[in-house]
Amino acid sequence: MATPLRPKGDLTPLAEAKAGYEPLGLTHRLRRNRKAEWARKLVRENVLTAGDLIWPIFIIEGKGKREPISSMPLVERLSLDEAVRAAAEAAELGIPAIALFPYTDPGLRDPRGTEALNPQNLVCQACAAIKKEIPDIGLITDIALDPYTSHGHDGVMQGDEIVNDETVAILVAQALNQARAGADIIAPSDMMDGRVGAIRAGLDSEGFEMVQIMAYAAKYASAFYGPFRDAIGTSAALTGDKRTYQMDPAHSDEAMREVAQDIDEGADMVMVKPGLPYLDIIRRVKDNFSIPTFAYQVSGEYAMIMAAAQNGWLDGDKAMVESLISFKRAGADGVLTYFAPRVAKKLKGMG
Ligand code: PBG
Repeated sequence: MATPLRPKGDLTPLAEAKAGYEPLGLTHRLRRNRKAEWARKLVRENVLTAGDLIWPIFIIEGKGKREPISSMPLVERLSLDEAVRAAAEAAELGIPAIALFPYTDPGLRDPRGTEALNPQNLVCQACAAIKKEIPDIGLITDIALDPYTSHGHDGVMQGDEIVNDETVAILVAQALNQARAGADIIAPSDMMDGRVGAIRAGLDSEGFEMVQIMAYAAKYASAFYGPFRDAIGTSAALTGDKRTYQMDPAHSDEAMREVAQDIDEGADMVMVKPGLPYLDIIRRVKDNFSIPTFAYQVSGEYAMIMAAAQNGWLDGDKAMVESLISFKRAGADGVLTYFAPRVAKKLKGMG
């Protein structure tokens, strides 16, 4: 390997040529490619664009309403008309898809999550309204019963148990209900076994073979969902925890089995959730399966960055961008993030 040389001491040119040069020892200076912004840009390995973003939106009943969520600063629950406006904003910013989450009136919640099957429920109304006004935005709807159950679990209960197969049958009906309302991507977040295959079969049998499935394939039982449960009003209701269906944070191989199974059952894309604490899982999924892979930067991750920024403990904008590029570096094709509109504006030079 070539070695950089420098003259030995204060010699005449002839003596110098005879003496040769002694090595300085630095063949590679990685700092050369970092010397200026243009140089850093030239060699940048990963880039974040608005096209990588999915914006999760919380919906409430009513008109002209925007309700703050105290554990998620600057995120609001939106009434239908405001949700349509948000969808328009997303489209304008180049965000390809939004994900809808309903805050269901507590009076409409019951042990079996019946409201999930109501063709006029909030999510269905929002799908129809947004599809009509903003036909070009991708609409992702969540499959799980927790916004609709009085006990806050994602499935139906028998005693203390969240029963799998009975829940899956309801989830298929929920998926059909949302597909009929105009959902483009069905995203099962419930972690029941076999739900992807059952939903795929259900959708196909009713002519929805082009409706995609984004499986929350590796979804962990995480403390980072706390603020989301405030947002959809399940924190107070939830009895116990979700550890019999969501994954143990200590597991990695099992995530590969979950992903393999969901792909086998017909998932078009898979998700890892939460995001930052599970970057290793995103990388393993991408390397092993080469399938469109998404990360969910969940409510607690958002809340942590916002809280620290509001305290002046870190630069919120920089932490936002750094956290999002880390998903791309880990191999994610896109990120569900509450920062979506803010970072999209920043990328456009608007914020
Ligand atoms: C519901 C669901 C949850 C999230 C998305 N869908 C919460 C949970 O499983 O308890 C969490 C999203 C977030 O924290 O931002 N099945």
